[in-house]
Amino acid sequence: MGQPKSANITWVDGKIQRADREKLLGQRGALLWFTGLSGSGKTAIALDLERRLLQRGKLCYRLDGDNIRFGLNRDLDFSPEGREENIRRIGEVAKLFVDAGVIVAACFISPYRNDRRRVRELFSNPEDFIEIYVQAPLEVCEQRDPKGLYRKARAGEIADFTGIHQPYEAPETPTLTLNTAEESVEQCSARIISHLEACGCLCGNGKPAEDK
Ligand code: ADX
Repeated sequence: MGQPKSANITWVDGKIQRADREKLLGQRGALLWFTGLSGSGKTAIALDLERRLLQRGKLCYRLDGDNIRFGLNRDLDFSPEGREENIRRIGEVAKLFVDAGVIVAACFISPYRNDRRRVRELFSNPEDFIEIYVQAPLEVCEQRDPKGLYRKARAGEIADFTGIHQPYEAPETPTLTLNTAEESVEQCSARIISHLEACGCLCGNGKPAEDK
């Protein structure tokens, strides 16, 4: 991790800890990192997951590639350096959300293994970072082409498009692999819920922490 540019800064610990907030929310915070080609289904699955978790009284917040590039990351492009910085910033934002006790659904192509590894390394507890490989063959994504971007990329109207001009490095040991060419969105989000249940993220009733 790089050192801050600023000198004379001091970390201040809160009087309320992550565990207090998790008790309040009745859940354990975690980062669900969805990686996969454009059109693989990352966002569709996260949208369904968010809804299901809300129905169960659990707080999930989606950080999504397209949306974040309208605001926080509006200054970044799709060059390898732009993508690296994109993922670095999102990793830091997600770390704050997890510390807030939230289940984060981060949907980013995040094509480079090294960038994803750096996000993983931000978390001292390995259970906090859950890598989900949303897998679909390039031909399937290209056929779906929900935003018409593959067509534009093939026509030379978009440069640097992942899968066409730039590589996608698939995860080697993801926690979950969801094959969206074979499984429905609902099946995929149900599998994620099962995983969250198994690792204790959905335990608790959401009672406020007692006075300290
Ligand atoms: S990442 O590679 O840096 O992780 P990110 O997930 O933020 O990408 O943004 C990807 C989204 O931006 C795609 O879903 C697509 O809608 C849009 N997009 C526009 N241009 C490109 C491009 N050259 N490569 C990939 N996605 C692009």
